[in-house]
Amino acid sequence: MTLSASEVHALKKAPAVDGVLPLFHERWSPRSFTDRDVSPALLAKVFEAARWAASSFNEQPWRFLVGRRGDSAYQKIFASLGEFNQKWAQTAPVLILGAAKTHFSHNGEPNGYAAHDLGAASAYLVLEATALGLRAHQMAGFDHKAARKSFGIPEEYVLGSTIALGYQGEPSALGDEKRIAQETAPRTRKALEEIVFSEWGVAAL
Ligand SMILES: Cc1cc2nc3c(=O)[nH]c(=O)nc-3n(C[C@H](O)[C@H](O)[C@H](O)COP(=O)(O)O)c2cc1C
Repeated sequence: MTLSASEVHALKKAPAVDGVLPLFHERWSPRSFTDRDVSPALLAKVFEAARWAASSFNEQPWRFLVGRRGDSAYQKIFASLGEFNQKWAQTAPVLILGAAKTHFSHNGEPNGYAAHDLGAASAYLVLEATALGLRAHQMAGFDHKAARKSFGIPEEYVLGSTIALGYQGEPSALGDEKRIAQETAPRTRKALEEIVFSEWGVAAL
């Protein structure tokens, strides 16, 4: 029997660790969304969170294109998605595309941290969405060329991820077995010893 949406959320949620903000453990990436719309007021809040990310030279290189189901921005982002992503992302009421300016505004020099800073802002966006009871799922699987062309994004901007945003849906709505299994599988992470070093390859903690 397939788990319900709330059972899946309980399973996906990482175990609490004393002193770590519960929000970090609560975020995960669903592929099933309900058709409930996201209000413009909530959308503004997720971008407000993104706006306050740190960035190299405070360049704030990030730009976001946002589409709401039925509008042309949504259509353009959706059309750029790979087939696998289109299959599930079609249920999300909001699609976002992130881009970052690759040169500093103050001197025109290349900003090697543009994509890094867009990633940080996107992480804020996703965490704020989680705090609001929304769910977000980032995607690299889209046609950059097609997205760039349909929006006329200047060459000076590098594209980041697309993000599906909405409210978590029932796993059973995904239809096929494989995708339901993915949606209901527990999440895994590397241990701290594998990622935090004092010397290269030597665990610090
Ligand atoms: C930059 C980025 C690109 C991703 N691309 C895709 C994608 O194209 N399709 C997809 O289904 N999931 C995609 N994901 C979701 C990851 O698979 C997911 O974040 C990872 O498995 C960890 O799961 P969690 O987010 O639930 O913790 C992407 C995530 C990130 C951050």
